[in-house]
Amino acid sequence: MCGIVGYIGRRDATPVLIQGLKRLEYRGYDSFGIATVGSELEVYKRTGSISDGEAEAAHLRGSTGIGHTRWAGYGEPTVVNAHPQIDCEGKIAIVHNGTIENYSDLRRHLEEQGHTFRSETDTEAIVHLIEERYDGDLLSAVNATLPLLQGSYAFLAIMEDAERIIAARNKSPIVLGVGDAEFFAASDLMPLLDYTERVIYLEDGDVADITPGRLDIYHGGQRVERPIELVDWCVEDTRKGGFDHYMLKEIFEQPQSFYETIRAGIDEDVRQMLMDADEITLVACGTSYHTTLIFKYLAETFCNVPVRAEMGSEFKYFTAPLNNLVIAVSQSGETTDTIAALNMAKARNCPTLAITNVQGSTLTRVADKTLLMRAGPEVSVAATKSYTAQLAALMQIINLRCEGAFDDVLSHAHLAIGDVLLHNLEDAVALCSRADHAFFMGRGPFYPVAMEGALKMKEISYVHAEGYAAGELKHGPFALLTPETPVVAICTPGPIYNVMVSNVKEVKARKAPVIALGVDGDKELAEIADIFIPIPDTHLLVQVLTASLVLQLLAYHTACALGRDIDRPRNLAKSVTVE
Ligand code: G6P
Repeated sequence: MCGIVGYIGRRDATPVLIQGLKRLEYRGYDSFGIATVGSELEVYKRTGSISDGEAEAAHLRGSTGIGHTRWAGYGEPTVVNAHPQIDCEGKIAIVHNGTIENYSDLRRHLEEQGHTFRSETDTEAIVHLIEERYDGDLLSAVNATLPLLQGSYAFLAIMEDAERIIAARNKSPIVLGVGDAEFFAASDLMPLLDYTERVIYLEDGDVADITPGRLDIYHGGQRVERPIELVDWCVEDTRKGGFDHYMLKEIFEQPQSFYETIRAGIDEDVRQMLMDADEITLVACGTSYHTTLIFKYLAETFCNVPVRAEMGSEFKYFTAPLNNLVIAVSQSGETTDTIAALNMAKARNCPTLAITNVQGSTLTRVADKTLLMRAGPEVSVAATKSYTAQLAALMQIINLRCEGAFDDVLSHAHLAIGDVLLHNLEDAVALCSRADHAFFMGRGPFYPVAMEGALKMKEISYVHAEGYAAGELKHGPFALLTPETPVVAICTPGPIYNVMVSNVKEVKARKAPVIALGVDGDKELAEIADIFIPIPDTHLLVQVLTASLVLQLLAYHTACALGRDIDRPRNLAKSVTVE
C-alpha cells in the first residue's frame, strides 16, 4: 500500500518525483524517498509525510529517477526502511509496492552469499538479488530475479551511469505516462495527469525497459505491444479548488458524480450480462462493501432477484455453489481482496463484472466486463463521491432489471443530493465531538447506510462508532447506552418508520441522546429526537443517497471540530493492496 513514481526524460527529475509522490500520498504517508541517476546514484529519504516540507530540501541531480511514499509493511517507518532500497555497493536502487512472501528465505540466502542488509524491508531482498545477477545489463539482471520472487510487486529499478528505468509488475499496478521524449511511471494515474493524458497500463508479468526516447515492453521474454490509452481525467480534478479539504470538495462533487454516472449509462453487452443473471453475487471491501449491501436490499425489494453481498476478504471462506454473475465493486479497482475474490469467481467460470472508478485498473483487466463509474479522481482517503457513484451504477442495474421504472427518479436524484449539502449540523457535531462512542442505526437499506455513517465517523474523527440494524441494538449494545453516547437514527417514511420511532423511544428511555434523520416536516420525529436533521421527502432510492450524504457531513464536521487530519486519517490508506 505504497505509491511509486518514476521519471526519465529531459527535465530535472527531482521536482517531478516530489510532485508525483504528493499526488500519491493517499496510498501511504509514513515515510518517503527518491533516487536519481546522473553519473552517480543519489538518494534522499525521510520519515513523515512528503507534504510536511522536508521534501523541498531534496536537490538530487539527474533527469532519471524513482520515488516512493510508504505505508509500512515489513519494518517500522524509519529512514532506513524507507524506499528507495539500494544494493551493497550503492549502485542500484529500487522502489517497490507489494509484498514479497518468500522474503525471509531470500534474505537468509543472500546473507549467506555475503550481502549486507541495512533495512527490515522485503524490498531490499529484490535489490540484492538484482545485484547478485548483474552482469553488465540491468534488464537481464531484473529478468533473472523475477522468477525468484513470490508475492506481489510493482517495482522500478535504476542504476548509476545509466539513463534507464526497468519496471516490473506482478499483482500490483504500474501505469506509464507517455510524453515527448520522456516517460513517467506510477502506481496510478494521479501523478501522470500533470504531464500527459497518454498512458500505458502494464499487465501482470510485464517488464518495461524505459529510456528517454524508447520504451520496450516484454512479457515472458517476448517483446509485446501495449496500447496507448487516453485518460479522460484532468489535472484540475485533482486540486482542492478552494475547499479546506479534499474530502469536503469531494462531498460537494456528489451531485455531479451521481449524475455523470447515470448519464454514462450501461453498454449493451454489459446490459445483456445483467439481464441474463438469475442471481447476483457482489464482492467488495470497506465503503464499497456497504454499497453492495444497500444494493442487496434494494434489488431484492424492487427486482426480485436474489443477491449475495460478500466482503472480498471473507469470500474465499464461503464454499457455497457459485455459478452466476459475480460483480466486484471497488473505487480504485486495485483492492487485493476484491481482486482475489473476482479471480475465484472466474476460476469457477462465473461471468464477472467490475464496477470501478479507475479505467485500466487491475479489476478491469480481470473482469469479463466493466461498468465504469464517473466520479473522477478521489483524493481523500475516506470514500465519498465514489460511494455515490457506485450507488449510481448499482441503482442503474436495478433500473435496468425493472425496465426503466426509475428513469425519472435517477435522472433527478442529483438535485436532492445537492439540497442537503448545506445543512446546518452544528448541534449534532457538538454532540458527536464530545462523545467517545456513538451508534448509528437503521433498517432495511438504511442499515448499511448507518454502517457507512459509522465507518466515516470512526475513520476520520476517531470517535468510536458502530452501525447497527436498529432491531439488534437491544441485543447487547443497549448495555453501552449512556447520556454521553449519541445514537444516530435514520427514520424515513414507509414500512420501517413506526418501528424505527419505537426504537428511538427505547434508546431515549436509556437516556442516550438521539440525532434523528427524517423527512422534512416530520413533526413527530422532531419532537422525540434531541436533534432532528431533515432530508427531502423523496423516493426511497434518493433517500438512501441524501441520508448518506448527511452522515458524511456529520463525520467531516465532527473530525474538523476535533482537529483531525481529514484527508489523511491515521493508519489508513486509500488503496489497500495487501491481503
Ligand atoms: C480502503 C479505503 C476505503 C475503501 C476501501 C475499499 O480501506 O480507505 O475508503 O472503501 O479501501 O477500496 P476500493 O478501492 O476497493 O473501493
